[in-house]
Amino acid sequence: MSKDISIPKHVAVIMDGNGRWAQSRCLPRVEGHRKGVEALERVVEAAAQRGVKTLTVFAFSSENWRRPAAEVTALMKLFALGLERWRKPLSEAGVRLRVIGDRTGFSSALNETIDAAEAATAAGSKMTLVIAANYGGRWDMLQAAQAAAAEGELTMEGVEKRLCAAELGEVDLLVRTGGERRISNFLLWQAAYAEFYFTDTLWPDFDGEAFDDALAWYVGRERRFGMTSEQLRKAG
Ligand code: FPP
Repeated sequence: MSKDISIPKHVAVIMDGNGRWAQSRCLPRVEGHRKGVEALERVVEAAAQRGVKTLTVFAFSSENWRRPAAEVTALMKLFALGLERWRKPLSEAGVRLRVIGDRTGFSSALNETIDAAEAATAAGSKMTLVIAANYGGRWDMLQAAQAAAAEGELTMEGVEKRLCAAELGEVDLLVRTGGERRISNFLLWQAAYAEFYFTDTLWPDFDGEAFDDALAWYVGRERRFGMTSEQLRKAG
């Protein structure tokens, strides 16, 4: 698929199904997360190649702390290892990395690893990879509203510009793998007008071809932003 006007600028992904992928093979859930990292690497490459400008992935929700401690620890370890491993290839590929979420929940070592990865890739202009970690859409809206109120700008625009990574714009296409059809407190504000693509494919099985299927589906959608089809046709 070539770079095209119909390519969504901002794609968000809920990478679901790692646990089921592992359990169906009698493997520990962590093995599914490990395979999930490989799937993420494939999709980052595909998204950058297709001309997506921002790819935001849900790596760890504010609710994921409720999982068994060993799984939480393993996820944190994979996150830190990934950040270290991706620094060089991402900067070489022109991909800027950003981490969004409540970073007060992370160890100082992990925060340093995040800072280092963001700094090493800061010059990337081809695509921004946003990793949402200890992120929740309600938390994001609340922190933005609190900051806006504190600075005397409690308006729609005032809140919007204080959301995490506000400068990266609204989500055009939200993909959820793993068969569930819900938003799970992901980018609640930013996805207000997103097109939602759901697939039963489990995240570890997701690849560039599956990503292209989502893009092809998106091309067929008519985004009306509250207007009628006729208004859109007239506007050209
Ligand atoms: C959902 O699958 C996945 C997660 C909670 C974690 C997502 C993590 C990765 C894709 C790998 C790690 C990536 C980084 C950047 C650390 P699930 O465990 O809820 O699957 P299930 O619904 O089948 O149980």
